[in-house]
Amino acid sequence: MDSYVDWHAAKAALDWQVEMGITEAISEVPINRFEQVAPPPKAGLIPAASAPVTPVLPQATVDPAAEAEAAAQGAGDLASLQAALAAFPHCELKKGARNLVFADGTPGARVMIVGEAPGRDEDRIGKPFVGRAGQLLDRMLAAIDLGRDRDGVASVYITNVLPWRPPQNRDPKPDEMAMMLPFLKRHIALAKPSVLVVMGNISCQALLGKRGITRLRGQWAESAGCPVLPMFHPAYLLRNPAAKRDAWADLLALKAHLSN
Ligand code: URA
Repeated sequence: MDSYVDWHAAKAALDWQVEMGITEAISEVPINRFEQVAPPPKAGLIPAASAPVTPVLPQATVDPAAEAEAAAQGAGDLASLQAALAAFPHCELKKGARNLVFADGTPGARVMIVGEAPGRDEDRIGKPFVGRAGQLLDRMLAAIDLGRDRDGVASVYITNVLPWRPPQNRDPKPDEMAMMLPFLKRHIALAKPSVLVVMGNISCQALLGKRGITRLRGQWAESAGCPVLPMFHPAYLLRNPAAKRDAWADLLALKAHLSN
């Protein structure tokens, strides 16, 4: 068989491979790159034949949800929980966020509101619900004599499922939810609200394990040892003003629950 390949044909084949992104020469046999190869002895030196070769051990796999659980449980108060979140290294969202958005309002308030995730304004300012949806939330709360800046029985405490803004406000991924959930549950345990208001599908998914806010809203449930009222998210109400009637009914249900 004629193994001769003409120069131009060989050059054309090589150019084609480079164009396809094949820029690294590989051999015909596989290379085990986990096997440590001793460096070649320098010229004129006698190789240290007896020097032990340190085996390269496989990296221990990290379970971010388990690490989150340990970090969250280790926090004895809200300030330590915020510090534990800030130090948590496994959530990729942190890299793209400007600020950790932890909470606003009064810790220990009877009502704790759980939103979804910071948006652009929250990321910039470092507080939950400060954009247009947040302003609507404030008006909704004021309508039943509650507010994040009020004291005592009129106060509320506000947080989100995720403390960092997802890029382009996309929905959180299941692994991001799983690793943030221990922090959220600990947050609730330390804030000790008597009622949780979960706004939107992401919050329902996190705390009730189900979505379908149109069906869930207004139906009292329980999570983290607390009564839970699912409600439409204010951002949804801005896009669907007709749903404000249901939101008003839910606010009245909340007010009635608090006055019992
Ligand atoms: N939407 C949320 O769910 N949370 C915020 O903090 C802002 C908008």
